Amino acid sequence: MNKEPTINEFLLLASPILKDPRFRELKRYPHHGHISIRRHVLNVAYLCYKHGLNKKNISLNELIRAALLHDYYLYDWHDRTSHNGIHGFNHPLIALINAKRDFSLTRKECRIILSHMWPLTFLHFPTSKEAWILCYYDKVATCIDNHKCHLNKKNIKKQKVAKK
Ligand SMILES: [Fe+2]
Ligand SMILES: [Fe+2]
Repeated sequence: MNKEPTINEFLLLASPILKDPRFRELKRYPHHGHISIRRHVLNVAYLCYKHGLNKKNISLNELIRAALLHDYYLYDWHDRTSHNGIHGFNHPLIALINAKRDFSLTRKECRIILSHMWPLTFLHFPTSKEAWILCYYDKVATCIDNHKCHLNKKNIKKQKVAKK
């Protein structure tokens, strides 16, 4: 029988990383519009958890940990002076270097983080089911984030018009 996803189970699996003060720093950095990196990676991790919960041969723990750390690059990518090179291509490696510095990662978790931007980072192909799941739900969450930002901007415009 299939298990129902619960926030409590998700938080139990995610809590070792969520509680870490270095991870909490992610809320300082905007990811898409008004949505912080912390909010984005939580959305991605929860989508991955829901997808992976009842699937066979999925390491749910590694999937959730990699999802939480996949954008652990720790800068505001909108500020061009905050990083070298092209953010879209470089940030999986930067996130991996930071994550390895601050957390103890399995080889699979490292590969999942490194391949999450595929096909943009063409040479870093997803090599596990978990990597494919993260690669897919990162894109889904990004679309949802962008839609929310669009609605937010529309509401702000409406409020300004109503005040006039
Ligand atoms: Fe990313
Ligand atoms: Fe992401």
